[in-house]
Amino acid sequence: MKIVDCKINHITDPVGYDLDTINASWKVAEAKGKKQAFARILVAADPEMQNILYSTEGAELSILCTPLELKTSPFTRYYWTVTVADETGDSSVSDVHYFETARMDQSWEGRFITAERMDTQNPVFTRTFRARKGEARLYICGLGLYRAFLNGKRIGNDYLAPGCNDYNMWLQYRTYELELEEGENTILVSLGNGWYKGRFGLGGGSCCYGSGFELIAEIRRGSELILKTDDSWQVHAGPIGPNGIYDDETFDPASESDDNVPAVFSALTTEKLQARLSLPVIVKHELKVQEIIHSPAGETILDFGQNMAGILRFRVKEPVGTSVHIQFGEILQSGNFYRENLGNAAAEYIYISDGKEREVEQLFTYYGFRYAKVEGISDVRAEDFTACSLYSDLDETGTLTTDDPKVNQLIRNCVWGQRSNYLEFPTDCPQRNERLGWTGDTQVFSGTACFNMDSYPFLKKQMKDVWMTQKELGVLTNIVPAFQDKDPTCCAWGDVATIVPWTLYEFYGDKTILRDQFESMKHWADYMYRQDEQAGGRRLWITDIGFGDWLAMDHDNPKERFCGGTDLAFLSSAYYYYSTSLVAKAAKILSRQEEEQLYSERAAAVLKAFQQEFFTATGRLAVNTQTAYAVALYMGLCPAGSEQKAADMLAAKINASGGKLKTGFIGTPILCRVLSSYGYSELAYSLLMNEENPSWLYAVNLGATTIWERWNSVNEDGSVNGTDMNSLNHYSYGSIVEWMYRHMIGIRPDVHRPGFKHVTIAPELSMYLTRASMHYNSPAGEYEVSWETEKGRHVHLQIRIPFDAAATVTLPGTDTVLELSAGEYDWSYETQKPLWKTYNTYSSFNDLRKYAPAAPVLDRYFPDWKNIPSIFCSDSLRVLGPSPYINLPKEVLDRIDAELA
Ligand code: BGC
Repeated sequence: MKIVDCKINHITDPVGYDLDTINASWKVAEAKGKKQAFARILVAADPEMQNILYSTEGAELSILCTPLELKTSPFTRYYWTVTVADETGDSSVSDVHYFETARMDQSWEGRFITAERMDTQNPVFTRTFRARKGEARLYICGLGLYRAFLNGKRIGNDYLAPGCNDYNMWLQYRTYELELEEGENTILVSLGNGWYKGRFGLGGGSCCYGSGFELIAEIRRGSELILKTDDSWQVHAGPIGPNGIYDDETFDPASESDDNVPAVFSALTTEKLQARLSLPVIVKHELKVQEIIHSPAGETILDFGQNMAGILRFRVKEPVGTSVHIQFGEILQSGNFYRENLGNAAAEYIYISDGKEREVEQLFTYYGFRYAKVEGISDVRAEDFTACSLYSDLDETGTLTTDDPKVNQLIRNCVWGQRSNYLEFPTDCPQRNERLGWTGDTQVFSGTACFNMDSYPFLKKQMKDVWMTQKELGVLTNIVPAFQDKDPTCCAWGDVATIVPWTLYEFYGDKTILRDQFESMKHWADYMYRQDEQAGGRRLWITDIGFGDWLAMDHDNPKERFCGGTDLAFLSSAYYYYSTSLVAKAAKILSRQEEEQLYSERAAAVLKAFQQEFFTATGRLAVNTQTAYAVALYMGLCPAGSEQKAADMLAAKINASGGKLKTGFIGTPILCRVLSSYGYSELAYSLLMNEENPSWLYAVNLGATTIWERWNSVNEDGSVNGTDMNSLNHYSYGSIVEWMYRHMIGIRPDVHRPGFKHVTIAPELSMYLTRASMHYNSPAGEYEVSWETEKGRHVHLQIRIPFDAAATVTLPGTDTVLELSAGEYDWSYETQKPLWKTYNTYSSFNDLRKYAPAAPVLDRYFPDWKNIPSIFCSDSLRVLGPSPYINLPKEVLDRIDAELA
């Protein structure tokens, strides 16, 4: 037996995080038995585990989340192990892990300092001090952003610290481990503008949260104070000129001033300082130049082969005064560099050489890019450049592959979408002058995110900010952190407050998130309730404010084309019901009976009113769009017994639109899931495999390496389809990957035994793929599922269920349902019936034309097949063939059938 992935609050060996609650989790691998029969956690003051401070044991300690009810002290490292035994007596002890408290409620002795009357965008604070050699800690917060150095060496490996959050409500300080020299030491902290005070947000202005540079720090050894920020620190103008998240960054080493002046105390107080929740943003991948392009316009362009978010690191040696100018872009146009779709984000870097050879990188900004245009370097060599993909330090948990290279590319694009946008907070895009925490995007992608990566700690911090925003402004905003956005948000966006905590609970089985967010969840549900009350209390949310089914293709008013064609009152009322019922469910889990009853009753009243308003007496839905059907089915809004009929109508609608989806941000993430849940898996697959606009593979065919914001962000000829709001790295539509896990692979968490302690595994096989496999390092341990089919009859299925978990497995193509415990399973069998229907020239042409394998055959023998008027399509080709209009001789029909067989 091996014990792995030991974490505290979902983080490995956290140092200096907010440890308000301390929850331990672990996983067990290579056990002889199947179940945990006993576990013991020990917490000690020393790494040898001699001085035990706390222990807890029993059969019931949860591998997902066991609270450690230990009284902790500030500035202290605790060591812990977990021992596990299974029912066979096999047992093991984990490695020694640790967590270290931050300051807790210890007040700061250091004060915030700033630079006065200094014309710089990069004040550099320094202080030389004496110390004894050895380990120490730096507690620090610098605003906008900081980078700190001790004795010339960088402290830590994180970027864009202290991160971004609602700075009006809380400021995060970080803890770094230091190694001090004997005698003299020098600390240097360089500050830049960043999110706090730089140009950022929808309004485009600067200083959303503050106008001054601020620094507070203490160096301690245990509780002993070694150094603190005060007016004995010096400050000078650093080498970085203009800088900002949306702006360029200029690095001119020669411009660094020698003129040190004393720092002054700032008016900022320490009350809002809290231990961090933000994970560090670090370099997660280093990408090398794939090609140096010399464009028709005479430019030198580096192609890193992958759209991403991050910075460029490069080695350079040019004569003194040379200006090196780098610009960043996502796509080329006619072979030339292009960046018109970046709005007014500068997305550039300027380096003024001081003649020395250097490796340079950006300190206080990041870019969304695949291409970098280089000017000012005499000899551009690929090996001198590295694109560093930056994002929050999340562990990747899911991998998914199929036998279809295009589908695989789509999956990769989705993962890169998350890599590019889970940078400190969940952003909409990483490149233009937005990069904002649009709550709708966060919400729709959250399930996919939890399959791709261990997203709990990242989203937990974002959800804290959701609550902070509600507390601060009295309403939830479209964007979190809100920056200049003070207006109340709308349906689907505001529902981030309920859906994300619920998703995290379902995926990780840790109730802490529900407890921490419960007031926030209620706040959002109550907001909708108040809107409803103010409008007469019909238990509907009738409003025309909102983004609707954002970017759906079915709006008939081009002026409002972005909002899609689904009625806003319908969508708002649907989410009103859905979120209210999630509050009731959370209340139940938290044993808050009164609230459970209140919100259940409210939800029931909304459901009743919703059905009266939006369904006819015979169960037909009054809002006739793909998204409306998908939402009604997904959220459980259809009158009892009418669900299948609604699903049939949804399928018919998709067929009537030529087998194409028309959905936007709301409908797309759930469309295929709903189809699969009501027996239309094959149709879901056909949407996935469609290659015409709008479809996922349309973008793949055009060379996309991330998910685009719009279905048609790029035209078929490769030209960018408009510069306004057109990002090539927006993850929302990547949420199809959640369908792939839940249906194509068929693994679904069970909210009654959350955290993947129990799952359903019911792979949906299709004629479109012969193979799919998945590895998912779930919170409960590692699952593996892979299937292969042959000739529509033979199935090979392999499954691995982790220790202490269980699965209800349906063998595809059979009625066999098995209840299985931990272990590895392998089945190979022939099905009684074919796994999917096959079609030929005797089938109705309607069926045949949607049957994917037929398309290439028809293209060959009957190139005009797409032009048969739909009125004829209910007949078979055998019937239609002899007609003069079609004129297909019997031999050709036979040949088509032979090939299809
Ligand atoms: C963002 C979106 C966001 C939307 C709100 C856009 O500009 O990029 O992703 O959700 O506005 O409608």
